[in-house]
Amino acid sequence: MKILSKDTLVDHAGLRIFRMVLDAPLISRKARAGQFVVIMASREGERIPLTMVESDSQAGTITIVFQETGFTTRMLGALEPGDSLYALAGPLGHATEIKKYGNVVLLGGGVGVAEIYPVAGSLKQAGNRITVIIGARNKGLLILKKELESLADNFYTATDDGSEGRKGFVTDILEEVLKKEKQDLVYAVGPIPMMKKASFVSGAAGVRAVVSLNALMVDGTGMCGCCRVSVGGQTKFSCVDGPEFEGDKVDWEELGLRNSMYCDKESHICRLNSLKP
Ligand code: FAD
Ligand code: FES
Ligand code: MG
Repeated sequence: MKILSKDTLVDHAGLRIFRMVLDAPLISRKARAGQFVVIMASREGERIPLTMVESDSQAGTITIVFQETGFTTRMLGALEPGDSLYALAGPLGHATEIKKYGNVVLLGGGVGVAEIYPVAGSLKQAGNRITVIIGARNKGLLILKKELESLADNFYTATDDGSEGRKGFVTDILEEVLKKEKQDLVYAVGPIPMMKKASFVSGAAGVRAVVSLNALMVDGTGMCGCCRVSVGGQTKFSCVDGPEFEGDKVDWEELGLRNSMYCDKESHICRLNSLKP
C-alpha cells in the first residue's frame, strides 16, 4: 500500500489532479479495465472508491488518478511517495465487457477521462475501431490527452470555453460522430448531466450506451446499501452490480439527489495536517 510515485497532472485555477502509482501486488494480478479500489487514506478517514487507471502485474503496481474535490481526496493529495495508505481493497466491481463490438465511441468528461483510459486500451486491443472524445471546462484541466490520442483511431477534444479543441460539450461531438458513421457502442464516464445526455443522444441514434456510475460508496462490497441506484425500475447496488449500467435505463434524477445527500456535512474545514497519517 506504499505510494511509489506521484505526479501532478493538473494544477490549474485551484484544481489539482494527481496520478499515483501504488504498490499493490495482489490487486494488480487480478485488476481488469472498469474496476475500482476502495481507499482509506488514514485510519480516521472515510473510504472512497477510485478507478484503477493502470495495473502492472509484473511490477505489482496499480495506478490511480484523482481530482481533489473534498476532504479525503485532499488528504490523499497531501501524501507523498514513501507514505503508505491505511487501507486499500480491490479489485472491486464488474470489469468492462471487452470484446469486438466494431466501432466504439468513448467519452470522458473531467476526471472521467482517466476512467475511460483503461477501457479504451482494452477495447482497442480487442480489435475495435475507437473514437475518443474528451472534455473539460478549459485546456488546463484536460488530462491524458497524449495517451488517449495515441490509442484512438479518431480523437476529439472539447472545452467549455473553447481554449482547446471544440468550444462546447463532448456530447455535441458525439451527436456529429453518430450522424457521420455507424457506431456499435458508446461508453461514457463523467459528470451526471454528461452521462445522461450521452445516453439520450446514443439512444436517439439507436446505439447502446454504457455508463460507469459515480454513486456514493462506503464498503464497495455490497454490504452497506449506500450505492443504491435504480436501473430499469430495479434497485441495484452500484458496487457489486455495476459500476457500469445501460445508460438509457438509469434513473438519473435519483442518482443526482442521492449524490448530493451529504454535501452540507462535507463542507467542513480541512484539517489536513492533523489528519495526515
Ligand atoms: P467530498 O467533499 O466528500 O465529496 C465530493 C463529491 O464526491 C460528493 O458530492 C460526491 O458526489 C462524491 N463522493 C463523496 N464521497 C463519496 C464516496 N464515498 N463514494 C463515491 N462518491 C463520493 N474520482 C476520481 O477523482 N478519480 C477516479 O478514478 C474515480 N473513480 C471513481 C470510481 C467509482 C466507482 C466511483 C463511485 C467514484 C469514483 N470517483 C473518482 C469519485 C471519488 O470517489 C470522489 O471524488 C471522492 O469520493 C470524493 O471524496 P472527498 O471526501 O474528497 O469529497
Ligand atoms: Fe456498500 Fe455498495 S458501497 S453496498
Ligand atoms: Mg468525503
